[in-house]
Amino acid sequence: MSYNGYEFYDVDANFDNYMERRKGKENANDTLEKPVICELLGEVNCKKTLDLGCGDARFAKELFDLGCEQYIGIEGSSNMVERASTFLVGQQGKVIQTSIEGWDYPEDTFNLVVSRLAIHYIEDIDSMFLKIYKTLTSSGSFIFSIEHPVITSTLQPSGIRTNWIVDNYFKDGFREQQWLGGTVHKYHRSIEDYFRALQRAGFSVEHLRESTPRREHFENEATYERRLKIPLFLSLSARK
Ligand SMILES: C[S@@+](CC[C@H](N)C(=O)[O-])C[C@H]1O[C@@H](n2cnc3c(N)ncnc32)[C@H](O)[C@@H]1O
Repeated sequence: MSYNGYEFYDVDANFDNYMERRKGKENANDTLEKPVICELLGEVNCKKTLDLGCGDARFAKELFDLGCEQYIGIEGSSNMVERASTFLVGQQGKVIQTSIEGWDYPEDTFNLVVSRLAIHYIEDIDSMFLKIYKTLTSSGSFIFSIEHPVITSTLQPSGIRTNWIVDNYFKDGFREQQWLGGTVHKYHRSIEDYFRALQRAGFSVEHLRESTPRREHFENEATYERRLKIPLFLSLSARK
């Protein structure tokens, strides 16, 4: 069976494997993706934050520490939503179980919209970015990370990866991946596609980052050297 982005995490074996990987010492999320997202948050106003594809909402804690007063997570997987309750105890936060595509985004509501490693599961980013633009207050920020297009380009629609060579880079669209013991749908787009989709929605793009490995985030020299080989994540920040 092949699953879309959130159905995949409702297969218990996939969910358990994912959670196990997140616990791993020097895992890529914590050493490469998170430091960049935290830097991009910098001076932004995160008073009312919307987190799309929030997973278990572990990011809420960091946001509350930064002054976030209201947190809403959107998440399609019931396994993730169940786990999220542990991270939100006693906080002004909630997770709504629905799809990113289907939620009814209230206009002019959030100072910050974040999305970490979920947008490569979305087929139509033009519609999504327009909804995000509308739900942001004036000068609000949109910050997101995705699997780097160099990585998603090595996946193919057939799901059969014959190598790790960048291929069909300029053919955007559906890709299938054997991952963590299951099969999941993803969508590949070039860096330019993401950049221009933000501009089409009306955003001013402010930062583009590729999670360049930083030595201080690694205890293990060999892991650091390995991470210098290929880019794993792309992050962008934009302003309304
Ligand atoms: C790789 S996980 C990242 C979770 C979290 N953002 C983090 O960084 O810890 C991607 C999450 O996006 C959710 N997701 C993927 N596609 C979705 C969709 N179309 N609607 C809602 N959630 C989605 C998945 O269920 C999963 O929890």
